[in-house]
Amino acid sequence: MKNLLNKIIAVGLILTMGLAFASCSSKKDLTVQKGKLIMATNAYFPPYEYYEGDKIVGIDAEIAKAVADKLGLELEIQDVEFDSIIAGVQSNKYDIGMAGMTVTDERKQAVNFSSTYATGIQSIIVTEDSAITDIDSLLEGDYKVGVQQGTTGDIYMSSSTEDGGVGEERVVRFNKGNDAVLALASGKVDAVVIDNEPAKSFVEANEGLKILETPYAVEDYAMCLNKDNTELLDQVNTALKELTEDGTIPAIIEKYIPSEG
Ligand code: ARG
Repeated sequence: MKNLLNKIIAVGLILTMGLAFASCSSKKDLTVQKGKLIMATNAYFPPYEYYEGDKIVGIDAEIAKAVADKLGLELEIQDVEFDSIIAGVQSNKYDIGMAGMTVTDERKQAVNFSSTYATGIQSIIVTEDSAITDIDSLLEGDYKVGVQQGTTGDIYMSSSTEDGGVGEERVVRFNKGNDAVLALASGKVDAVVIDNEPAKSFVEANEGLKILETPYAVEDYAMCLNKDNTELLDQVNTALKELTEDGTIPAIIEKYIPSEG
């Protein structure tokens, strides 16, 4: 009996050691779920991501699909709060965050960024009859500014006047950029600071609004990835490079933002 017990213990030990060894030496999967590329976005940001029926389309959705195809992965897009994308990438809930997301030094502490695939400009939207004519008059007056929570527009505006913002007290945060624009249209805020391309489509969709000529800040957009997954970062960057060189990415951008003329 004792002998049998010893044998069982011995076999158990060998099995556990074997398993431990296997898990150390087995190569980690490239993505969170084998065979899939899970992208987190916030799909109220045309022309980068928005709903057409129940499908998420736009520049980011199409570029991500092209990258996933190159990597032999199936793209799955999850629509989440913009504010939760980076944390979800850090905790390996998503493989990539792609949401017209600006590369900033602060975000770089938390995640890796791919090479950039587009440029964004922070713009100021006001009502057509507004006394706000440029960034200086916005900063000087006692105006309330609407922003999308956690975006660079929020970060810039919430900083102190010395740093080019209006300060926390004058910033009103919304979950979606369009909600900030609706608040502007109904007089709840005096201006909205948001990326220029979504700004254009929000202004088109709401009467009585205009974008000020003076852009506020120029930014680079990129995908963000978990800091530990440099293998996926390399593969994504190679795919982005190839897709730029073969004209795929320029064509996607041109489709959604036709160049004038
Ligand atoms: N470019 C800005 C940022 O990175 C705004 C992005 C908002 N994106 C979105 N899909 N809602 O902070």
